[in-house]
Amino acid sequence: MTNMALKMADRAFKARFRSGDIQHYLRTGNRAVKGWLDPVDGRLIATLGAIQADLEWGGATGEIGVHHGKLAILLYMLLNAGESGFCIDVFDQQNLNVDGSGRGDEARFQSNLKYFLGKRFEPVCLRGDSTSFAPEDITGAVGSVRLFSIDGGHTPDITASDLQLASDSMAEHGVVILDDFFNATFPGVAEGGARYLSSARAGLTPFAIGLNKVFLCRGEQAGLYRNELCSRSARYIYKESEFFGATVTVFHAGRASARQRFVGRLRKSARWRAAKASYAIFKSTKALRS
Ligand SMILES: C[S@@+](CC[C@H](N)C(=O)[O-])C[C@H]1O[C@@H](n2cnc3c(N)ncnc32)[C@H](O)[C@@H]1O
Repeated sequence: MTNMALKMADRAFKARFRSGDIQHYLRTGNRAVKGWLDPVDGRLIATLGAIQADLEWGGATGEIGVHHGKLAILLYMLLNAGESGFCIDVFDQQNLNVDGSGRGDEARFQSNLKYFLGKRFEPVCLRGDSTSFAPEDITGAVGSVRLFSIDGGHTPDITASDLQLASDSMAEHGVVILDDFFNATFPGVAEGGARYLSSARAGLTPFAIGLNKVFLCRGEQAGLYRNELCSRSARYIYKESEFFGATVTVFHAGRASARQRFVGRLRKSARWRAAKASYAIFKSTKALRS
C-alpha cells in the first residue's frame, strides 16, 4: 500500500459521497430542486463539512424546514458512513406554518432524496412544529448534530426556540446555520436571532456571515472555523466585522470565474440570442406538427 492509501485506510471516517459528487450537486444538480440556497452559501457549507471531515469530527446533519430538500440534500451528502441525517418540517400540516415560509412537500422531498442520494438513504423525519420538539427527540434518534440548518418558521419566537433546540442537540464541535437573518422580508428572524444571541443562555457564537446565512458554533471553535473557512474560501471574503461581541468574516458572491465570465459574455452575444430564437421557432413548429 502507498503512504496515501495507508493514510486513507487509517481514517476513521468514510465519506458517503466523493467531493466531486458534492461539487456536481452544487454546480448543477441542485437547480433541479425547488427551494432557496445561494451557490456561495452552498459552497461555504460544503467547506465546513470538509473541515469537519479533515478533523474527523463526526455527528449527524439535518435541517428544520426542508421544503423540497435543496439544502437538506447537500447536508446529507456531507455525511460519513454510519452517520444519520434528520429533518423537521410541518409538511402536510401547513396550518402550523404560521408565517407562510415555503411549503414542505414530503412526497417531493422524498423523491428528490431518492434521486440524489439513492434508495437506501433515509433521514429521520420529525413531522410537526419545530417548537414542539425537545433536543432528545433529535439526539435520541440520530445522536448529536454537527451541521444543523435552521430554515423553518421565521417568527421571532420560533427562531429563538429553534436556535436553542439546535444548540442543545449540537455536538461540541458542531455548526448551526441560520437562514434569512438579514432578509428584510422576514424581520422576525433578526428579532428572534438577536433575542437568542443576547440571552445569558446563548451557547452559540457567530463566526461567519454568508449571502443569506449566519454561521454559529461554540465559542471555543469559532476561531478555528473562521480561519479554516477563510483560508479555503478566500475568493469569497468581503470583510471582517464585529457581530454580537464576536469577530465574524463576511462573505460575498466573489469574482466570477473565467468560465462564468465566458458563459456570461456568450449569453449576451447576438449569435447566442439568434441561436436561442431559432431553437424556440424549431420547438414551436415541432409542437404544431405533432
Ligand atoms: C423557506 S422553506 C425551507 C427551504 C429549504 N431550507 C430549502 O433548502 O429550500 C421553510 C420550510 O419550513 C417549514 N416550516 C414552516 N414553519 C415551520 C415550523 N414551525 N416547524 C417546522 N417546519 C416549519 C415549511 O413547511 C417549509 O418547508
